[in-house]
Amino acid sequence: MSPNQAKPENSPHILVLGMGGTIAGLAAKPENPLQYEAGQVTVSSLLAHIESAIPEGLKLVSHQIANINSRNLTEPLLSLLGKTVQEALANNWVKGLVITHGTDTIEETGLFLQLICGKSAQELGKRIILTGAMLPANAAGADGPSNLLDAIRWASTPLDNCPGGVYAVMDGRACLAMDLSKRHPTALNAPLQSSPSSSAGLINPSWLSGVKAVQAAWNEDLPLPKGDEWPWVEILTSHAGARPQTVAQWLGSGVKGLVLAGSGMGGFHDAWQTPLAEAASQGIALVRTSRTGAGSTYPNIPEKDLEGCLASGTLTAPRARIALQLALNAAKVDKSLTWQDFFARIAVLPEIR
Ligand code: SIN
Repeated sequence: MSPNQAKPENSPHILVLGMGGTIAGLAAKPENPLQYEAGQVTVSSLLAHIESAIPEGLKLVSHQIANINSRNLTEPLLSLLGKTVQEALANNWVKGLVITHGTDTIEETGLFLQLICGKSAQELGKRIILTGAMLPANAAGADGPSNLLDAIRWASTPLDNCPGGVYAVMDGRACLAMDLSKRHPTALNAPLQSSPSSSAGLINPSWLSGVKAVQAAWNEDLPLPKGDEWPWVEILTSHAGARPQTVAQWLGSGVKGLVLAGSGMGGFHDAWQTPLAEAASQGIALVRTSRTGAGSTYPNIPEKDLEGCLASGTLTAPRARIALQLALNAAKVDKSLTWQDFFARIAVLPEIR
């Protein structure tokens, strides 16, 4: 770089944040790509690998936040990611962001980012793109390089029709990041979204109007908890043979909320009725969702809800947990509203079909 040339950080660029995952993974034997370690390759190496395909003149700056298997994602790490993204959104040189992430918990991170900075990304006209891979970096036909390139294109192409916001791009498709979820352990198209649109920029108009409806309904970002401020929330799954102890063991534990992944329409085993009523009377926040992993959970369906227990709307159990944590934290910050007020804003966000 000549002395007069601005450093990439001080000129318009796309910021690429590395969190780890299979996209940064290595298999001991490339011919056995299912046996591998996630989070082995740095994000700068991933970018170096695709350098020749990066659009001419596009400046990229990379920053490694973590290099983990995302099943080990922690709340302090989410706080660090959230803070980094918020700072980048406020930086005029950053025109868009890409985050390389493990797919196991990309579902949680997608909703988390929507709730803490979806509105500001939209208002600033910047796209934040989550991406990952199903095959480690050294496997034959690894999907990481093409996913990363697609994500970079999505973060950097003009905003004519697709607004700023928090998206995910994988397997040649794009969606709102809060809609991405992994629904198969190994398939290349495992991270599925309900409404595909082309990553080549051919945006599906009905999907786009769904994006705009979600953005119109999301009026205000929630406060970002510091690493040690996240309320303790657990997910309990109802099943045949469920026992009262599964709930009762949390009474007096310090847990602040329980997400109940019920069966079918989100109903839970009768064995839980008494301990859940006790949990509610102790002030433990309760949210009811469905373990089916799709569709919506509605209030008072199939039966009337316990006093104070909210239905999750379209949120799956992992998303409902993040939503409840952020709602509990928001109610602590703004004491004029309850966690139910904040949670209800999230649960009513429209589903894009
Ligand atoms: C991970 O989530 O870090 C491992 C799995 C993946 O990225 O597909």
